[in-house]
Amino acid sequence: MKYLITSALPYVNGTKHLGNLVGSLLPSDVYSRYLRTKGERVLYICATDEHGSPTEVAAKNEGITPQELCDRQFKIQQEMNKFYNLSFDYFGRSSSKNNIQLTQYIANKLQENGFIEERIIKQFFSIEDNMFLADRFIVGKCPFCGYENARGDQCEACTKVLDPTDLINPKSAISGSSNLELRETKHLFLLQSKLEKDLQKWIAAQTTWPKLVKSIAQKWLKEGLQDRCITRDLSWGVPVNKPGYENKVFYVWFDAPIAYISATKDWVDEDNQNRNLMDWWGADSDTKYVQFMGKDNIPFHTITFPATIMGAGSEFKQPDYIKGVNWLNYYDGKFSTSSKRGIFMNQAMDLYPADYWRYALMANIPEGDDSNFTWEAFAKSVNSELADAYGNFVQRVSVMNKKYFGDEIPDGGIEAETEKRLMVELEKLIKEYDDNMSALEFRKAVQTLYAIFSMANTYFSEKEPWKRAKEGDMSDVALTLRYSFNLERLCAILSSPFIPETSNKIYNALNLTQDLCKFPEQDIAKELTILKPKHPVSQPGILFNKILPEKITELKAMFGDENVKTVNRHGKELHI
Ligand code: 2FM
Ligand code: ZN
Repeated sequence: MKYLITSALPYVNGTKHLGNLVGSLLPSDVYSRYLRTKGERVLYICATDEHGSPTEVAAKNEGITPQELCDRQFKIQQEMNKFYNLSFDYFGRSSSKNNIQLTQYIANKLQENGFIEERIIKQFFSIEDNMFLADRFIVGKCPFCGYENARGDQCEACTKVLDPTDLINPKSAISGSSNLELRETKHLFLLQSKLEKDLQKWIAAQTTWPKLVKSIAQKWLKEGLQDRCITRDLSWGVPVNKPGYENKVFYVWFDAPIAYISATKDWVDEDNQNRNLMDWWGADSDTKYVQFMGKDNIPFHTITFPATIMGAGSEFKQPDYIKGVNWLNYYDGKFSTSSKRGIFMNQAMDLYPADYWRYALMANIPEGDDSNFTWEAFAKSVNSELADAYGNFVQRVSVMNKKYFGDEIPDGGIEAETEKRLMVELEKLIKEYDDNMSALEFRKAVQTLYAIFSMANTYFSEKEPWKRAKEGDMSDVALTLRYSFNLERLCAILSSPFIPETSNKIYNALNLTQDLCKFPEQDIAKELTILKPKHPVSQPGILFNKILPEKITELKAMFGDENVKTVNRHGKELHI
């Protein structure tokens, strides 16, 4: 068996905040890295999600073409991927040639199989902007609550779902013009209703999916599946390969998930000697396909995209497991660009190393429910768990070894009660960690990891090698240090999915070849004696710096006060 892993594709326009990072990019990377340490074959794929009217409008506002905007944003995303150490096997683009071809191919299949129908609808055309407007680009007064700036798809103030024609005094959100005409326009609809039974059966068979994912899928099914319009009157997107559709493109949510497959094709094309698309994506390939996403993406991945694949002939693999993640809030409120609350991926890069963010965010990943980012919790993860437990242990071991034995692992000593107890406890904790990771229970996995760091630190403290050295019992000092180096190796391997840069520092300091960086086997006694006397070691340096209380005060002032909430005039918090 092999693993195909995808993360939801980040939109190319707009900066991503830490909620986006912890929602899919980070957990998918952590899981891929974990599987690799276990020797599994993994293909980890992602791409930028580039199409849609927001891209077209953003480019227009900047006076550049959508292509130019996407080229620039793609580079920015790649820099962020590099900083956060996201270990994609391939990071593609939804605007790629392969995605255009595959989207058109899938649309043709759907048409051939009778799952696409042409329908004529009425839509607002803005004379001033010379374009049909997407629902969210029409604003006006909400007929339900009177909110003046309601969007055509949903009123932010009262959350009612709207049709743009419901709005009182509708105008273009782009130019502000109210010179709008309701015009007839033809579009293609995906006949999801015809696939309802098949989807029901498929979803019912998913007994291992997390509750959150399954319940969202079932809620949609229960409400009855609507046929979905899959084309738009835009110029930026995948062209619709059908006469009469020259000025239309496919809807962004139609082509974006197809990019999971076409980005894999881009990876195949890099080296078409040894790689084969259908080895990974074939419906009956021996691939376990795991998807990661924030909860707002769940309906598209449990209903619309599976329906697309089914209707097109079920040639491609459906997901075996979907890891859906709730919202990460900032001090109980939403992250908000406009009111400058919360932290964005590019700002975080300038503040602390990637491992600090990776560890602290995964320790607090909103798995069961929404969770809050607070600077206090961030500092606790870094100070108590990384610096005090792990960093302090590594530092004490390397400083003492240098002092008494130089640059190699010392010989001598006989294992006693403490070492035996250590083995029993460690074995239990590694098993617990492995179980949590293979169940994609990342919060629990981080807690177990912390317990392992603490255990290593406690072992060293209990052995009191500084006292033994004073007493002249150097063989016991040697034993403690040798065991500690072996513990360090295990800590570095186990934590590498979360803090890969730190693990690399330790791998280098311990001179580990790749075969010594694999997930530990069951035989813990063997694992704790892998690094033998005379093995050369060097100093890894300080691994983590603590975050001081005055710095927390400064950061809170910089990134928004926890007491400020963005509310509407009725006092209801706005979801911006
Ligand atoms: O919500 C988002 O950020 C979307 N860009 C996710 C797309 S996932 C996929 F299906 F392409
Ligand atoms: Zn309203």
